[in-house]
Amino acid sequence: MLLELEHVAAAYGPVQVLEDVSLSVPEGSAVGILGANGAGKTTTLRAISGTVRVPSGSIRFKGNDIRGKRPELVAALGIAHVPEGRGALANLTVQENLRVGAYLRKDRAGIESDIAFLLDLFPNLERRYGSNGSALSGGEQQMMAIGRAFMAKPTLLVLDEPSLGLAPSTAKTVYTAIARLRDETGISMLVVEQNANLAFSVVDSAVVLETGRSVLTGSTAELRGNDEIRRAYLGG
Ligand SMILES: Nc1ncnc2c1ncn2[C@@H]1O[C@H](COP(=O)(O)OP(=O)(O)O)[C@@H](O)[C@H]1O
Ligand SMILES: [Mg+2]
Repeated sequence: MLLELEHVAAAYGPVQVLEDVSLSVPEGSAVGILGANGAGKTTTLRAISGTVRVPSGSIRFKGNDIRGKRPELVAALGIAHVPEGRGALANLTVQENLRVGAYLRKDRAGIESDIAFLLDLFPNLERRYGSNGSALSGGEQQMMAIGRAFMAKPTLLVLDEPSLGLAPSTAKTVYTAIARLRDETGISMLVVEQNANLAFSVVDSAVVLETGRSVLTGSTAELRGNDEIRRAYLGG
């Protein structure tokens, strides 16, 4: 297993918000995290990247125990996190943002070919290559943030609600690119999404969170066929 969380709890100061979250991401697969607003999806990703306290449970990545490890160390092991709200650097250009993502890499030819791949994947970024992050639309900022994370050459790409705040057609464009990124690179993914239809266009399986607990896990086909899931997350 590439990533495995078992019975993870997490707390902001004295406030415990995750009670018991278990999930796993097999090597090469894409896994979704579904759940209502406030269920603990973002906090689960923070527990993985080392930005929230995890008082109990276990988190293993490539066989390493990463629970409580510093964010820089988790990133260096091969997890790149695109946070909610995108985390792009507004005062740098698209080109600079992509290169910042590659700052730990020494393979210059690989960096150039990855940038070429991203500009082909996101034609908007090619058009906006010299523009500041602050000048981009919401969808373009999301594309840039995904590109920047990809430039770290991670084993696991973690995406927190890439559709958030985007018009439906833009969200679809972003997800089409995420699916192509996955198909063409074989990168593993963990994708938080409130819009299950979008998530299901990319992931092989998903886990459902409710008030800090993982309550259901299944393949995309199983979850699509589940009446409760259909009512809660698929609009019918
Ligand atoms: N920095 C924080 N301090 C205290 N409580 C927080 C903080 N961030 C989130 N929470 C609370 O933790 C719970 C889970 O939040 P979150 O993980 O952001 O949910 P989701 O991403 O599923 O919407 C919510 O009740 C939220 O109010
Ligand atoms: Mg969230």
